[in-house]
Amino acid sequence: MRILKTNPVLTIFNSYLVDSPSPSTISYLWNFGSLLGLCLVAQIVTGILVSMHYQGSANEGFMSVEHIMRDVNDGWLLRMCHANMASFFFIAVYLHIGRGLYYGSYRSPRIGVWVIGTIIFFLMMATAFLGYVLPFGQMSLWGATVITNLLSAIPWLGKSLVEFVWGGFSVNSATINRFFSLHFTLPFILAALVAGHLLYLHINGSSNPVGTTSNADRIAFHPYFSFKDLITVYLFFVLFTAIVFYMPDKLGHSDNYIEANSMQTPASIVPEWYLLPFYAILRSIPNKLLGVISMFVAILILLLLPFTDTSNIKGSSHKPLYIISFWIFSLNFLVLMWLGSCHVEPPFILAGQIATIYYFTHYLVIIPVFGIIDNVLSILGISSIFNNPGGKLETTNLSKLNEENYSVNKENYGNVQSKNINYSVVDIAINKSKFNVNKTKSTILNVEKSKLGKSKKEEPKNEKPSDSEKNDDEEFEWTKFFRPKEDRDRKLTEAEKKVWRKTKKVILEDDSLIEPTMSRTWHI
Ligand code: HEM
Repeated sequence: MRILKTNPVLTIFNSYLVDSPSPSTISYLWNFGSLLGLCLVAQIVTGILVSMHYQGSANEGFMSVEHIMRDVNDGWLLRMCHANMASFFFIAVYLHIGRGLYYGSYRSPRIGVWVIGTIIFFLMMATAFLGYVLPFGQMSLWGATVITNLLSAIPWLGKSLVEFVWGGFSVNSATINRFFSLHFTLPFILAALVAGHLLYLHINGSSNPVGTTSNADRIAFHPYFSFKDLITVYLFFVLFTAIVFYMPDKLGHSDNYIEANSMQTPASIVPEWYLLPFYAILRSIPNKLLGVISMFVAILILLLLPFTDTSNIKGSSHKPLYIISFWIFSLNFLVLMWLGSCHVEPPFILAGQIATIYYFTHYLVIIPVFGIIDNVLSILGISSIFNNPGGKLETTNLSKLNEENYSVNKENYGNVQSKNINYSVVDIAINKSKFNVNKTKSTILNVEKSKLGKSKKEEPKNEKPSDSEKNDDEEFEWTKFFRPKEDRDRKLTEAEKKVWRKTKKVILEDDSLIEPTMSRTWHI
């Protein structure tokens, strides 16, 4: 065990996969990251093996894939694993992103993780598209033609750019060769980005489904989450092998078993299922350039989320409105996916336009507006907790919280006391929210300062209580700020002191508490 903590390489392994302090409450939805890592490694390994028998040209591409399927030992297995793992990769990434959307994982302090994730997602789609062109069946050729032609929408440069990408006047051998080269290289860039993704994640660690700080209760990654992750790995392989061995072509398009023929257009040109929602958005906009822009914006809009989410509460566990909007958004995404596979004809055109508008409205209007509504609701909830006897504490004067009107009625205090930590977390939430000044920290710091000042000026005289008891009073003076008036002069019990000390440490030292959350408020 010691070597895990002393060897410079093994310490990295240890800090990510063994000792890594992980929030105890993370659910199975936190398992998709490890599955994605597994998919990436599997794609690289099977891809390298398949590439040993593949020929990257328009003449040989199709036949070399047939050769892999028929002649190469276990070539069919390698190819089917590679092709189907791409689909599973996307299932996992959509669930991974969905988890992020639902629980607000994109928020500070994980904006970096989210930004790198979005770049990864974008490159994953590019890699998958390039790979789909390689077998050079009908759908490869026509899919490549449609997608590369999108560049022609760029004013002035467009046409030349398309021919530059093709390396000719249509999709040809040069195109396949360069697509092969890029398809081979991009996964390694993805791997580097994943390393960055995890480096960023490691700064604050994972968030958790409750939405509170993850520092409240952490446990070691191994054995708790290493084994939990293995459960989904096992289930993943059960499903994956079922598809590979029993329905290997289910997720692909039958037209891709027809060799590419530039003289014959397929009845409908459709990309792989995982690109369909974005393809539907592209087709919904009548103007070609705007369509292309909308398609890219539909992906990159993920980057806006940390800024458009106006809610003070992280995650959605306590935001009923957001939960509803999340599920409507997910349904809309599936509708877009289905529409992407339909012919461009009524009523699908109109349906596509409505679904596209809803897609963008969710990000640009619903999330910010619902955030504001949730803030108001949560502030109302908090004001009912700080239900002071005069009933003066209203939403509007939360910003004026001070010793005078900051009192909690006895009943609530009774509950709160047993959860002092939670109580201070609630307080921090208020402090960090837009409705308040940063009071908690400054109060503690002021008390500390005045204590320091005193100890310098006033030399210990012969006063009786100036020993440990007095020190205790000073040490816990700041807690008065949180205690009801009638309770302020009471001596704290040892157990209470322990909790308040911990609370103070958390408030002063732990900046990740900046994740504002009031979720625990509801339990008090
Ligand atoms: C090859 C693709 C990817 C890999 C291998 C990967 C890997 C991981 C891993 C291992 C974790 C920690 C475990 C977990 O929370 O599931 C994680 C967390 C995270 N990932 Fe990814 N990821 C990938 C793609 C993405 C994408 C496309 C996004 C978003 C656009 C994203 C956003 C996040 C976020 C925000 C977290 C932190 C979640 C939290 O703790 O709340 N990831 N990722």
